[in-house]
Amino acid sequence: MEIQENVSLKKYNSFGLDVKAKYFVELTNNDDVKELLKLDDLHYAKRLIIGGGSNILFTKDYDGLIAKISTKGNKVLEENDKDVLVESCAGEKWNDFVTYCVEKELYGVENLSLIPGTVGAAPVQNIGAYGAELKDVFESLQGININTGEEKTYLKNECKFDYRDSIFKGELKDKFLITKVILRLSKEKKFNLNYRAFQSYLKPGEQKNITLKQVSELVKKIRRDKLPNPKKYGNAGSFFKNPEVDKDKIDELHERFEDIVHFKVTEEKYKIAAGWLIEKCGFRGKNIGNVGTYKRQALIVINFGEATGNEIKNFTEQIQNAVHKKFGVNLIPEVNII
Ligand code: EPU
Repeated sequence: MEIQENVSLKKYNSFGLDVKAKYFVELTNNDDVKELLKLDDLHYAKRLIIGGGSNILFTKDYDGLIAKISTKGNKVLEENDKDVLVESCAGEKWNDFVTYCVEKELYGVENLSLIPGTVGAAPVQNIGAYGAELKDVFESLQGININTGEEKTYLKNECKFDYRDSIFKGELKDKFLITKVILRLSKEKKFNLNYRAFQSYLKPGEQKNITLKQVSELVKKIRRDKLPNPKKYGNAGSFFKNPEVDKDKIDELHERFEDIVHFKVTEEKYKIAAGWLIEKCGFRGKNIGNVGTYKRQALIVINFGEATGNEIKNFTEQIQNAVHKKFGVNLIPEVNII
């Protein structure tokens, strides 16, 4: 383990921003993690733990230590007739983990195919796509409290999972380092193909005999059609969360905007498609300098070239202001702005 100084973070963040970390360390095994935590200075230093860097916007150089978790490995912990407990190391690429499951004929994460980022970051924001969320298959995770060095296991009901949220994004932010994630996957064939996008891609009858591998490939195709490739266009997936509003607000908006894209969460809570709100403010495919939104999905903010983090931030604030002015709705970033 080597702590480096003044390291460019360009290849460690999916926006491709060329900011520097004062100190940088890559942790490739669990002993590295423990060794790092023994360093007294770390307990006081400003620090940030990153995985794939696919949900971060750096607005300036980082004046502290960035620890990138690169531990690798997947293994089956136990199994019965119905399901299998699989343990995956935090530094595994999430999509490699999905591929491992698909190859082993384990059901439950196929709708989450091709989501960028690492296994360790997946529970932090409870990743989700196409009607599935990490919490649906989550069993527990292991990690280390950075302040005390204590190893701890968190069970599902302790993680405070919510829409793109968890305890690790809230009260444990930068205090707890996730080392292993344990998921419960099913041996029984069962798919979740209710999301609208599937219907338009599958021909009638095709759904009946579809295989696990085909579902995973279908999800990848839908993503490739709809979302920009971060290798080509720097981005961090959806920039904002889909906002939640109460019944009175949705009724008011519905009266003014008949075609507003929304759905019911509970009797009192409704979610609105942020992409729709942004598009209606004229921001779909709009560029300002080096920054813009994707032409096929207004919720994706793109660094078209050499944009700085602040340019991106300013652009997203313009979006927030426009949406607030037109609809009276606050857009909350999903991306961590540092
Ligand atoms: N829409 C528009 N204009 C746009 C974009 C969307 O009108 O420019 C409307 C369309 O009616 C569309 C609807 O919004 O049908 C929903 O769009 P989409 O299916 O693309 O999903 P989303 O709600 O915008 C969420 C997740 C994505 C995830 C997709 C698919 C959030 C913040 N985003 O997007 O996750 O891939 O559903 O399940 O919840 C991410 O978190 O980084 C991410 C990409």
